[in-house]
Amino acid sequence: MAKALEGVRILDMTHVQSGPTCTQLLAWFGADVIKVERPGVGDATRGQLQDIPNVDSLYFTMLNHNKRSVTLNTKHARGKEIFAKLIKHCDVMVENFAPGAIDRMGFPWEKIQEINPRMIYASVKGFGPGPFEDCKVYENVAQCTGGSASTTGELDGFPMVTGAQIGDSGTGINLALGVVTALFHREKSGLGQRVTCAMQDGVLNLCRVKLRDQQRLAHGPLKEYPQFPNGEFGQATPRAGNASGGGQPGWIVKCKGWETDPDAYIYVITQAVAFPELAKVIGREDWLVDPEWSTPEARLPKLDKVFEEIEKWTKTKTKFEVMDILNPLNVPCGPIISMMELSEDPSLRATGTIVEVDHPERGKYLTVGNPIKLSDSPSDVHRSPLLGEHTDEILAEIGLNDDEIAAAKDEKVV
Ligand SMILES: CC(C)(COP(=O)(O)OP(=O)(O)OC[C@H]1O[C@@H](n2cnc3c(N)ncnc32)[C@H](O)[C@@H]1OP(=O)(O)O)[C@@H](O)C(=O)NCCC(=O)NCCS
Repeated sequence: MAKALEGVRILDMTHVQSGPTCTQLLAWFGADVIKVERPGVGDATRGQLQDIPNVDSLYFTMLNHNKRSVTLNTKHARGKEIFAKLIKHCDVMVENFAPGAIDRMGFPWEKIQEINPRMIYASVKGFGPGPFEDCKVYENVAQCTGGSASTTGELDGFPMVTGAQIGDSGTGINLALGVVTALFHREKSGLGQRVTCAMQDGVLNLCRVKLRDQQRLAHGPLKEYPQFPNGEFGQATPRAGNASGGGQPGWIVKCKGWETDPDAYIYVITQAVAFPELAKVIGREDWLVDPEWSTPEARLPKLDKVFEEIEKWTKTKTKFEVMDILNPLNVPCGPIISMMELSEDPSLRATGTIVEVDHPERGKYLTVGNPIKLSDSPSDVHRSPLLGEHTDEILAEIGLNDDEIAAAKDEKVV
């Protein structure tokens, strides 16, 4: 079965997390991803957080599946010649170096277009044009500058970053969409174009509802926030603990075993339409006939009490028991599932969302497979390449003969 992106060649100049997330997705859809790395060094993440000495880290292996690796010094004169051949050979170039790095190698966008007018050139940067455009950016910088940290955390606590890599992986996903959109456009125009994604923009896009709330603040307190009615609202969208971001109140409550298990909790949403069933199951049928509790408006100022009562019941059940009981009642709820539990979940294994991969140096490990499922282009997850594993074959593919490959090796260009 042909993969959706079969025949598309990606010149992968990415490192760390954001860019590799993009090119890994494209590789899963069948693109031939040629990862260019510095000779002898490679992507810095190969050596970061190593759990086994001198073996490519899980950080690297989990972001670089289904790719081929070629080593190339793009700052060396002969390296630049080879790089130009790669630009000619490929459809898309993806990079996430510090601002200006590819230009400093001698390959500004104009030059890339000259070499290959069909080339799509996709970049991740920390910021778009503006006062911070030259800054280097990592995940938490993006979370802090994109509105996530200021709106995450306890009501009276400090700003908080989240464990989800919304700046890095989130922006990589945006970039992948930009690439396939530009490929689609090229079908009609015959020309490539630039695709740029800023991590700050990507995080802000994911914080859309918080900008919504910023504007609602001008018209009165945010009634679904825990600050209402007793707390104070300032001038900006506040942190809201675990309150639901939508119009339906929700909170995290304890379940059986919470005293010893840090993940024995469940998120329960008290959607109005399912509230009668919820009230009955927790033994508070009386609420349904009491005007103090029977309507969403009446409950709104005392949501803390509502969740206290729900918690009295959830503490008598495990989080999965609560899930089993509430779901048939149409009460949306989400147990706090730990990484340990996720890694052992048979249904996630069955769908290929958690995949076991074999690596020649590290042996078997788990990774997250393609979260986007296509019915005619299923994703097989293949191990990440060793540094320079495909150098010879890729150089031959772009037209270098044996002598030229040997000369490049002698000069330590590859
Ligand atoms: C992530 C980041 C902070 C890392 O910074 P860094 O480790 O200092 O690395 P840089 O991006 O500055 O690049 C390192 C250098 O290696 C060079 N290099 C990379 N590949 C090379 C190759 N194959 N041959 C020769 N030189 C190479 C680059 O040209 C650059 O050199 P320069 O500084 O002389 O221009 C930075 O790349 C960045 O801000 N990227 C954009 C935002 C981003 O994606 N951040 C999220 C990362 S998950």
